[in-house]
Amino acid sequence: MKLYHKINKLTQRLTYRRAWRRAQRSIFRLPLGPLRAGIDAEHLREIQHRYAGSPAGYAKYANVDPWLRLNRERVQDLKLHRSAPKRVLDLGCGGGFFLFILKKLGHSVLGLDIDQVSLYAELLNIFDVPRVVWRIKAFEALPDLGQKFDWITAFSINFNLDYPTERLWGPTEWDFFLRDLQQRHLVPGGNIFFGLNPTFGGNYYTPELCDFFLRRGADVERERIFFKGGAHF
Ligand SMILES: C[S@@+](CC[C@H](N)C(=O)[O-])C[C@H]1O[C@@H](n2cnc3c(N)ncnc32)[C@H](O)[C@@H]1O
Repeated sequence: MKLYHKINKLTQRLTYRRAWRRAQRSIFRLPLGPLRAGIDAEHLREIQHRYAGSPAGYAKYANVDPWLRLNRERVQDLKLHRSAPKRVLDLGCGGGFFLFILKKLGHSVLGLDIDQVSLYAELLNIFDVPRVVWRIKAFEALPDLGQKFDWITAFSINFNLDYPTERLWGPTEWDFFLRDLQQRHLVPGGNIFFGLNPTFGGNYYTPELCDFFLRRGADVERERIFFKGGAHF
């Protein structure tokens, strides 16, 4: 009975927070029209035509509208459409949808990703979003990026997957990674946000990893891990 009440309370809290985010999005709107206006339509059509019959999973990103809508929500949920200009680093930036919107809003942006999918490079080019090519690895520091950032984000991440062991990064890998972000790449008081991917069996994290995030000061809401003002060490 006690456990039932606990789960019920958690579910209610999640439902409430999601509803609050939805309400905020509809109050503080971010119309897509002016954002889309900056895209070279002819170039985009040519890309879409080329990827139309592609069986590759990533080909879905050529149809940019749903991804712009998803990333608009990400921008709204982090309130970056209502903020003074910030420097934002997005890890595993993919085609750069999130950073494209931010750039249009006046923020200064940098993406970081591996260079495996040519469609991502083409989209980044069309969006005019700069990217550093780098493979994030456990226990390896990021390169010098020449500046510090007010925000470091990463959405639907999979750099935390260890192949072929099919093991997710645990607290030790995350601790190294977070320290590097915090100490070398984030301004004092900056924010870090991760949107985790459910992988290798469907969980976002083990209870041990969730506990680690909480001890480092994160607000943990299912896949959303938010270090407001940075992580605590
Ligand atoms: C599922 S996609 C998400 C893309 C984007 N963040 C989004 O939400 O649309 C994962 C991204 O992480 C990148 N990625 C995967 N492993 C990586 C690694 N070890 N280092 C850097 N980027 C990586 C992929 O190339 C891809 O762009």
